[in-house]
Amino acid sequence: KRVAVLISGRGSNMASLVNAAAEQDYPAEIVCVISDQSDAAGLHFASSQGIPTLVVSRRDFDSKDAHDAAIDAHLKAFKADIVALAGYMRLLTPGFVSQWQGRMINIHPSLLPLFKGLNSHRRAIDAGVRVHGCTVHFVTADMDDGPIIAQAAVPVLSNDTEAALSARVLKQEHRLYPIALRLVAEGKVRMEHGRTVCSGFED
Ligand code: GRF
Repeated sequence: KRVAVLISGRGSNMASLVNAAAEQDYPAEIVCVISDQSDAAGLHFASSQGIPTLVVSRRDFDSKDAHDAAIDAHLKAFKADIVALAGYMRLLTPGFVSQWQGRMINIHPSLLPLFKGLNSHRRAIDAGVRVHGCTVHFVTADMDDGPIIAQAAVPVLSNDTEAALSARVLKQEHRLYPIALRLVAEGKVRMEHGRTVCSGFED
């Protein structure tokens, strides 16, 4: 399957997908990396791996719809089958999301449905939870809200700092995202009627 990755910054999750896809027998290839930020650090890594990169800035368009339509046109030009959001910090329009329904996934640094949105690690510490983690899910129009594909949990330690906890979670993100993308690319996990459906695990 042909996968496009959307980023806004560091791009470490994108890098984990690129590295996984470089392995033999991985069922997906990363065909392009698109950023809405021209200074996204991840763009350098992608180029260094020979992957086409594009910057599609919001300020170059009159509306959110026009911005997303431009991204959609690039995805179609690259014949992308699947879109993986990896630290893409912009909420996509409902029209764009419906175009890619069941074919667009995202990683979020919390055990959803807890702690949607920003600062999930700070909020996990403040809430006093003892278990935290990350989630890969299908993208729906609402932020961090779609059907869950896979999750990984980490302990929250006493006196944890935001930096220590986020590093612990990020390590799991880099492990989890390639696993989840593999399941989607192989068609073993699909989105149907707003739910995640699994099949083909007997293989
Ligand atoms: C990750 O924690 C991801 O879960 C969240 O934003 C962060 C992006 O980091 N959506 P990176 O750009 O992948 O390094």
